[in-house]
Amino acid sequence: MIYSRIIATGGYLPARVMDNAELVSMIDTSDEWIQERTGIRKRHIAAADETTCDMAEQAARKALAAAEIDANTIDQIIVATTTPDWIFPSTACLLQERLGINNNCAAFDVQAVCTGFIYALSIADKFIRSGEHKRILVVGADVNSRIIDWTDRGTCVIFADGAGAVILEAGTEPGIYSTHLHANGKYTDLLNVPAGVSKPGDYPYMKMKGNEVFKFAVNTLGDIVDETLAANNLTKSDIDWLVPHQANIRIITATAKKLDLPMERVVLTIAEHGNTSGGSIPLALDSAITAGDIKPGEILLLEAFGAGFTWGSALIRY
Ligand code: UT7
Repeated sequence: MIYSRIIATGGYLPARVMDNAELVSMIDTSDEWIQERTGIRKRHIAAADETTCDMAEQAARKALAAAEIDANTIDQIIVATTTPDWIFPSTACLLQERLGINNNCAAFDVQAVCTGFIYALSIADKFIRSGEHKRILVVGADVNSRIIDWTDRGTCVIFADGAGAVILEAGTEPGIYSTHLHANGKYTDLLNVPAGVSKPGDYPYMKMKGNEVFKFAVNTLGDIVDETLAANNLTKSDIDWLVPHQANIRIITATAKKLDLPMERVVLTIAEHGNTSGGSIPLALDSAITAGDIKPGEILLLEAFGAGFTWGSALIRY
């Protein structure tokens, strides 16, 4: 059997930090409300000329350095993003060039919004398990600040910018035990950016019915926890760490409760990072691994929920 496993991670956050006080000076909100309702204290916002590919490059370089491998041994690049630099080429192709990878490896983007990294990880895992590829760079990166309406207090206090990367490698031991992907296109009106190429629209910013998204997310993530454990014949007590998408501390707490997991076993970056969409899970993973909290051999449950709706999970032995 061939399995995939994470051999290295990397993360990048833009230099500019925006705290809640700055938002209070812009819109009708308060530090207390934001912290209590979302768990966010501050977030990072990209510079005016800083792009998704710029952030992806920094995160990928850190992961490559941590893995101590030559970039040209990567044989696939997947970038999960909803905010690509260009319509085309894909951000993954731009990244391949930036990293000096000249081995003609496959490179493509995946668009599943906040669940994008889980989708990308799942695809990469399949390529490795099939024996087709041995080393895959998976990046999640989003520059949400470009699609935020800074007058909409229902979204601008939550979303932020950042990128995370992992390198997956083929091995004889798992690694990734299973991934679970879902979507339901019935709920597009609850969370969207109603503008694009074939349907331009006049409001190219996020629109979210937050409270309805919240309720759906809590229920759905509870279900995917059950699905993931059942698929692997595991019980809640087998999970060492929950590595959740950092959307709202109250959603994360509800999922931890479902797992009977104390919050010390939940990777939390939301207070400092906000919700970085595709970047959120790989950034959280990188922060807990580089801090030495997640140790080799431990079992991790990764989960995410986002626009689409899309949702997914991955069960991993680190
Ligand atoms: O990334 C993946 C997908 N996204 C998510 O998972 C996000 C899910 N949703 C959420 O995180 C939460 O719904 C929010 C943080 C967006 C909102 O929290 P909430 O507890 O659901 O608030 P709400 O929308 O029910 O609004 C409650 C009150 C309202 O005032 P009234 O009508 O009760 O007077 C809002 O107008 O809070 C008000 N409000 C605010 N007040 C201060 C909404 N946003 C703010 C704000 N500051 N920023």
